Amino acid sequence: MNQLIEEINLLKKQKNAVILAHYYVSGEVKQVADLIGDSYYLAKVATKAPQNTIVLCGVTFMGESAKLLNPQKTVLMPDQTAGCPMAEMYSIRQIEEARRQYEDLAVVCYINSTAELKSYSDVCVTSSNALRVIQALPNRNIFFTPDENLGRYIASKLPEKHFILSNGYCCVHVGITAQDMEAAKQAHPNAKVLVHPECTEDVIALADYVGSTSGIINYATASDADEFIVGTEVGILYDLQLKNPNKSFYIPSERQLCNSMKKVTLEKIKHVLQTGENEVVLDDALKDKAAVCLSRMMQLAK
Ligand code: 13P
Ligand code: SF4
Repeated sequence: MNQLIEEINLLKKQKNAVILAHYYVSGEVKQVADLIGDSYYLAKVATKAPQNTIVLCGVTFMGESAKLLNPQKTVLMPDQTAGCPMAEMYSIRQIEEARRQYEDLAVVCYINSTAELKSYSDVCVTSSNALRVIQALPNRNIFFTPDENLGRYIASKLPEKHFILSNGYCCVHVGITAQDMEAAKQAHPNAKVLVHPECTEDVIALADYVGSTSGIINYATASDADEFIVGTEVGILYDLQLKNPNKSFYIPSERQLCNSMKKVTLEKIKHVLQTGENEVVLDDALKDKAAVCLSRMMQLAK
């Protein structure tokens, strides 16, 4: 294992590459990552990294976002089949109907989306900046896609706006039930409950804090509490524990595992660095419009 890590570190230098990783990838992958973060952070740092190759350890939409924001750079995915199922849960027909119905409609898509969906949307958001970005929009009518749970949560914070929600979801987060959460709370009555906004409404109602992966880590790190129940993908425990060695973290369900994120391995990282395979290539017809949607997010989220 150590030899593999050394080989990757050497290849990184030889190929002038930076390795970016999402919190949900495995701990061994994080050992070779130069930067680890949530979806917004990864999109942001991709634009600042001086290296001309980015190895994106995460799911497809993250690699596509890095490429859309850095068309001149090479973006490599360790596993190109690591897709986020939610990214495909949308309907262009539904968007077009909503545009006909509401004159001032803003189509807002979660960054967990395909380049096609981004090309049909006015602006993109992540879980950490959705509130700020949508609040900054002049439009009252908001079509939010694909994640219904995140959309409903943001809508509850912005009563001055009218939201039309679509029905996408994250199979990992909706797999955490209110029953799981109640049982975890009973087992750990002093623990604070931290959840991702992709969780269902009834789980969010039980939370002390709702936020993105980095929001959850920052909250737990700043908190005086010693125990936390974590309602998001299990990979985050590595970072929570690293930053807070004296605090305890519990997960309410055994199903909090994103199989796509776990497809990224050290062997695959080494392979793409060696061969340059699995480069992200975007459809010419979509990429300019999709890039505008992402760049608008970067502007409004500042
Ligand atoms: P974050 O932007 O909070 O890291 O979320 C990404 C994700 O895929 C959550 O399921
Ligand atoms: Fe997609 Fe859910 Fe995995 Fe995040 S945790 S990448 S939303 S499937």
